[in-house]
Amino acid sequence: MIMKHKIAPSILAADFGNLQRDCEMVNNSEADWFHIDVMDGHFVPNISYGMPVIKAIKKHARKPLDVHLMIEKPERYIEEFAEIGADIITVHYESTVHLHRTLTQIENAGCKAGIVLNLTTPVSVLEDILPKCYMVLLMSINPGFGGQKLEEITYSKISQLREMINNKRLNTLIEIDGGVNGSNSRKLIEYGADVLVAGSYVFKSENPIKTILELKSI
Ligand code: DX5
Ligand code: ZN
Repeated sequence: MIMKHKIAPSILAADFGNLQRDCEMVNNSEADWFHIDVMDGHFVPNISYGMPVIKAIKKHARKPLDVHLMIEKPERYIEEFAEIGADIITVHYESTVHLHRTLTQIENAGCKAGIVLNLTTPVSVLEDILPKCYMVLLMSINPGFGGQKLEEITYSKISQLREMINNKRLNTLIEIDGGVNGSNSRKLIEYGADVLVAGSYVFKSENPIKTILELKSI
């Protein structure tokens, strides 16, 4: 068993009418973090949820909140997300002009900072900023919606990023988001992923606690 990797169930696939129940499920499972997807309808063609829902999640969550911002100019809202309980904040490389400044802003707000790359944004753009990243999230789908199929390009991107992190002797975590399931999780970990996000595969399964354990025990 590998098992040193983390699992972050994506609340986007939860039942919002039973949010407390679904948060308790994550609390009682082997999951490590809550993955929180914020979408603004501009950066991605979908709107998810905002501050009031995240506050409600925070009230019940007993594990860190991993907040994935799919919004334009995320620098406008960093302090607010930190105040309502974000522990890790990741921003898209494609969404902000002064990435270094935005990461500093996240750190100054007391959170761990990470960068997200869209499918076709090459890993090489991280060369200079990597030492400042607690984590890099590689999108394995086009962001905006849950329930899509993981794109094959993901594997070579993980290898490249793993090599870059090792060469620089860093501890940066690699997180994968989109289309993660029981058939590809092992391969993702073997290629070098540290954190797997899973939405539909967990919440649409018959026994989410068991599904999380299955993803964790590889
Ligand atoms: C999509 C989000 C994902 C999404 C993953 O833009 O970033 O976190 O919830 O959902 P699944 O696991 O169903 O692909
Ligand atoms: Zn996400």
